[in-house]
Amino acid sequence: VSERGAGDNVRFWNGLAERYDWTVSWFGRSYGEMIRTTVQDVGHAERVLDVGTGTGLVALELAKTVGEVVGIDPAETMIRVARRKAAAAELTNVTFDVQDAYETSFENGAFDAVTCCNVLHVIQTPERALAEIRRVLRPEGLLVAPTYCHGQTWLSRLLRRLSTVGGFKVYQRFTVDAYTALLERCGFTVLCAQLRRGPVPNAHVVARPV
Ligand SMILES: C[S@@+](CC[C@H](N)C(=O)[O-])C[C@H]1O[C@@H](n2cnc3c(N)ncnc32)[C@H](O)[C@@H]1O
Repeated sequence: VSERGAGDNVRFWNGLAERYDWTVSWFGRSYGEMIRTTVQDVGHAERVLDVGTGTGLVALELAKTVGEVVGIDPAETMIRVARRKAAAAELTNVTFDVQDAYETSFENGAFDAVTCCNVLHVIQTPERALAEIRRVLRPEGLLVAPTYCHGQTWLSRLLRRLSTVGGFKVYQRFTVDAYTALLERCGFTVLCAQLRRGPVPNAHVVARPV
């Protein structure tokens, strides 16, 4: 467990880490699309933080187009897998660290962009994570935060119930409207919110600090 916080359901994420990329492959093309759109949205930012990086699927792609990427996650095994993949790809502008979203070690305004992909629905206090993201983002910086919306349709509500069997916890049952309202309450202006269709719809949101 992280030195700087307990994270959320970290035991589950540690247990899944070695199989995570394989599990994601079941999502088919939509995951790849989410990663590509996120990388496009971030553009050529100099310094990027990827919050809840998991095995670094997004961070490792970002590293090909931005100056420097730091990926953080409270699950140590996720970070171990991400570091192994970075070494194999010989990427030298990406680092991974065990930290959770609620309290990070970074200075105010340290990043030009923050990505937080498919994380805010699996944490218990997204408001705290968003406050910390806002703190480490420079005033004109960009937040790209695609997130699954389990409150959007009857099927997504049903799938949420079924997925708890394996220990997976979805703490937030967002609709896209509830999710964008949360971001606005937490001090962000939402620049774009697009719903990616699927068994569980994904809200692709780009925002800036107010
Ligand atoms: C669904 S995975 C997403 C991983 C990656 N961003 C991606 O899109 O493939 C959710 C991740 O959130 C992490 N997580 C759980 N609690 C967290 C917290 N409090 N702060 C940051 N990350 C957290 C988990 O360890 C897990 O790696």
